[in-house]
Amino acid sequence: MSVPEPDSAASAASVESGSRTLLVTFVVCLVCSIVVASAAVLLRPIQESNQKADLIQNVIAVSGLLKEGLTEEQALQRIDARMIELATGDEVKGIDPDTFNIVKAGKDPAISTELARREDVAQIRREPRYLPVYRIVGANGDLKKLILPVYGYGLWSTMYGFLALEEDLRTVQGLRFYQHAETPGLGGEVDNPKWRAQWTGKVLFDDEWRVQVEVTKGSIDSSTPEAQHQVDALAGATITSRGVENLLKFWLSNKGYGPYLSRLRHERS
Ligand SMILES: Cc1cc2nc3c(=O)[nH]c(=O)nc-3n(C[C@H](O)[C@H](O)[C@H](O)COP(=O)(O)O)c2cc1C
Repeated sequence: MSVPEPDSAASAASVESGSRTLLVTFVVCLVCSIVVASAAVLLRPIQESNQKADLIQNVIAVSGLLKEGLTEEQALQRIDARMIELATGDEVKGIDPDTFNIVKAGKDPAISTELARREDVAQIRREPRYLPVYRIVGANGDLKKLILPVYGYGLWSTMYGFLALEEDLRTVQGLRFYQHAETPGLGGEVDNPKWRAQWTGKVLFDDEWRVQVEVTKGSIDSSTPEAQHQVDALAGATITSRGVENLLKFWLSNKGYGPYLSRLRHERS
């Protein structure tokens, strides 16, 4: 019995159909990548302007100005953003605080320095040389509140936020995190308005201007002098809570905004 020869015409057709499929796949991939790349490029300015708007919204929210009855527009006019060199506390001209990207700056070796392990209380590894600060000014341009970007590691993620200090530069007006990846319901409660509210009125320095802040597990005895520096830890999220304490200690120290805060205190004394 003879075995039938494969049909050569059918085989050629199958090869042709295979190459056509490949060609169509290639063209579809090319078109898709052009569409995605163009969208990324075209949408970048919109994304950047949205991020900037979002950041300013957070600055306004932490400032407490809306609670004082100001509109967003009026609040915006009271914000005077400036770039600060952390090591000296000097103001830096020529860098726009509105477009400065804190997340990128902290990773860019050109404008950040590596922290030694023992100094790196906030676990951020590198520290930017410059950061924006937001001065809330009165009608005469006098400082009424100061808003400082702060960040540090929690359990899973770096938590980015703003700390607002009252005019005395030691009392908290507000603390607010706008970016983190802690567990919703546990560490993610750093966003919870109830937890945030605990911070308002807390005092972050002692009389000698040493940083004093403690996020404690267990109840706070309000009759003790330490209570003014203490905040209840988040339930079931001690590590995230400790992260918040550590990042405040870092950013208020001489490694963080210490030189700038000291300069402001001297200017005003
Ligand atoms: C799925 C899962 C997610 C968790 N997320 C967090 C978190 O975001 N922050 C945190 O501090 N602890 C988190 N924990 C708990 C920590 O592992 C650790 O037990 C806790 O921080 C200890 O705090 P406690 O003494 O208040 O329970 C999580 C645990 C599990 C199982």
